Amino acid sequence: MEELNNMEELKISDVEEEQIITPWKVESTTKINYDKLINNFGCKKIDNEILERFVRLTGQRLHPWLERGIFFAHRDLDKILDAYENNEMIYLYTGRGATSESLHLGHLIPFMFCKYLQDVFGAIIVIQMSDDEKFYFKTAGTIDDYINYTYSNIKDIIACGFNPHKTLIFSNSEYMNRHMYKNAIKMNKCITGNQIRGIFGLNLDNNIGQLSWPIFQSIPAFSNSFNRIFGDKHVYCLVPYAIDQDPYFRLARDFAESYKQEGYLKPASIMSTFIVGLEGVNGKMSSSDGSVSLFLDDDENTIRDKIFKHAFSGGGATKREHMLYGGNLLTDVSYQYLVYFMEDMDELKQVAYKYANGIMMSSEIKKIMSDCIVQLIQNHQHKKAMITKEDIECFMDDSKQFDMTMNKCVSSDIMYDYTQIGTNFDLTFGYNKY
Ligand code: TRP
Repeated sequence: MEELNNMEELKISDVEEEQIITPWKVESTTKINYDKLINNFGCKKIDNEILERFVRLTGQRLHPWLERGIFFAHRDLDKILDAYENNEMIYLYTGRGATSESLHLGHLIPFMFCKYLQDVFGAIIVIQMSDDEKFYFKTAGTIDDYINYTYSNIKDIIACGFNPHKTLIFSNSEYMNRHMYKNAIKMNKCITGNQIRGIFGLNLDNNIGQLSWPIFQSIPAFSNSFNRIFGDKHVYCLVPYAIDQDPYFRLARDFAESYKQEGYLKPASIMSTFIVGLEGVNGKMSSSDGSVSLFLDDDENTIRDKIFKHAFSGGGATKREHMLYGGNLLTDVSYQYLVYFMEDMDELKQVAYKYANGIMMSSEIKKIMSDCIVQLIQNHQHKKAMITKEDIECFMDDSKQFDMTMNKCVSSDIMYDYTQIGTNFDLTFGYNKY
């Protein structure tokens, strides 16, 4: 249980820098230090070498979030690429705990990225809707409230464009099968209360649902939980998530280690940073504060209004100062959002240049960002409106015929300057004056 022991020595909160990153809380007095997280969590940076290999094997362009270092860390992504290169099957797993009718912009990130990975590899994806988790961890709301949220959130997820023949979405309260439960049994026996306390910071005042939740978030990372799709075979699993979810998968990997004689494989991960809340770069977007989060069911006026009122500006205090010193790209929330959502790199660079040099005003960058986000959200709403009850049923049906064909490796002539992208990417393009 090598990884677990290391973990017990680690504090999940990092007092020195006052950043607290747990599955329940993301708080920091300064900008979150992701390098430190990589160290503390014992994962690897996504480096040039792996990006190059990814492009070489898949023949696809990198997602802008890989180019821009937003998906920045991994565990065993190289093993996933090995498997892909050897024509072995891999699958993807992610999830969502719904706490309101609609997702916010930050929630969209893992799903949009999963859709990209599904297309690149031709992979099956399983998506856990953890309504039980939210019921255990929130004080208000009945289990049926959370199940209802699940169903409205599923539409948002389907709207990301997943392939119905390669996707299973399940409500964790409503779905269980004997193979998956057998994995829960094995994990239950393997993991002590002290380990749960050490990894998650939970204690005996937490309810049993909370204490046992990590088991249930882990088991979908083992392909034999989905016997109807994969049979008894162990298939490599890649889990994309925002880095606060990491403790679950360290636990899952430890479990796999102790069951490796039976063929269990450690799930691999690919992790993203958090998109910041409108109010500033020290926190992540959250559902609990509606005024500073952009929801996928907000209408155009609401979106523009929230952005103009609340998006923290890195611009100068006065017009004169702004023209003199320029805007700060590193604290300006509108700019941060453009790094996520403005697809064209040259356009982004232009904005960076103009804003950092005080040629573009704060109101202008807010307008550009609002236009970009409004377009994204309206496009999403349009797709969501077309989803029917039958679509939802199809996505949730584990007895349908799944399309098990993976894409084949192709040779690629796509060229990148790998010294400028990924975790080397300078989001200021060297223009910042601060
Ligand atoms: N715990 C996640 C949340 O609070 C939801 C979740 C369930 C999840 N299973 C997952 C996230 C697997 C990433 C990967 O929203």
